[in-house]
Amino acid sequence: MDFSAQLITWYKENKRDLPWRNTSNPYLIWLSEIILQQTRVDQGLSYYEKFISHYPTIDLLAEANEEEVLKLWQGLGYYSRARNLHASAKIVSQNFNNIFPSTHKGILDLKGVGEYTAAAISSFAYQLPYAVVDGNVYRVLARLFGIHTAIDSNEGKKAFKDLADELLDTNNPDIYNQAIMEFGALQCKPKNPNCEACPFRLKCIAFREETIAVLPFKAKKIKQRNRYFNYLVIENEDLIFLKKRGGNDIWQGLFDFPLIETSKEIEDLEQLAIIDVDKQLSYDNIVLKTVSEEYKHILSHQKIYAKFWRIKLTKTATLKGNYIAVYMDDLYNYPVPKLIDNYLNSTNFSTT
Ligand code: ADE
Repeated sequence: MDFSAQLITWYKENKRDLPWRNTSNPYLIWLSEIILQQTRVDQGLSYYEKFISHYPTIDLLAEANEEEVLKLWQGLGYYSRARNLHASAKIVSQNFNNIFPSTHKGILDLKGVGEYTAAAISSFAYQLPYAVVDGNVYRVLARLFGIHTAIDSNEGKKAFKDLADELLDTNNPDIYNQAIMEFGALQCKPKNPNCEACPFRLKCIAFREETIAVLPFKAKKIKQRNRYFNYLVIENEDLIFLKKRGGNDIWQGLFDFPLIETSKEIEDLEQLAIIDVDKQLSYDNIVLKTVSEEYKHILSHQKIYAKFWRIKLTKTATLKGNYIAVYMDDLYNYPVPKLIDNYLNSTNFSTT
């Protein structure tokens, strides 16, 4: 039996029953693939259910407002996925009369859709012969064929893509693509793969050469930078200030508190050189109520250490700029980063 036939046999015996596998609706498949881009299946499942129940069709997603979409996405991270999803839904709705593109090129042109996602949607929804290459596929192929070329080099990307194309079962591209990813997720796992019960054990070069633990090989180590966030949780009677994040930083479109970023951890309020919410507040009219413990929040390229300085204004004030004043009870309705949500969930705002 050749590789793809053997893989498909394994898949039929071992696959999980996942909702997006029981449909050929391209909208639902696209939605699932965007959710699963940087997310594990067990975490993504409830978001998928939530999205299809709020937006069963693409026109309903297109009509939603962005804050509502971001609120539903809250906790999943990589929020540009949600913004791109929403933007693409609007384009399909307005320019293509709600008809999801049905060619590989048309799918690839959607915002937020790269090579992997285009191949996944093309094959799952339309049985087009495009091989997926994701982290699972890199791992399975690197081990099985004993490939040590770095997966983050141009040479490696090309070599793996060529091999994946060659192996694809063009009569069953949908099943084959699901099968190789499932095999990577369940059997050929990053840590503790189940080599004892692997159907490819005798063929697997990494198993024979005992290089399972070092494959797939990556050339570059991810550099993480440390950031120190000082959030000013400013009480102004029964209002709290929030700010909608914009710019080129993380969490665009989400809300957080007025922020002073420092190059190291701050111990006293006075160390925050000026309480400078754009130089609109001074020490004269604030009282520090509490300061939180340090919250550590880890993203792919940064570690954020955050402290929440809860401050009361002695004289009522408004802040100019992108700040909004929100009733304490209403804070929970805004889309916020997980870090802020963690803080809100551990803090009582209704009794002050
Ligand atoms: N990860 C990305 N796409 C997937 C899919 N369709 N099924 C399971 N895991 C996935």
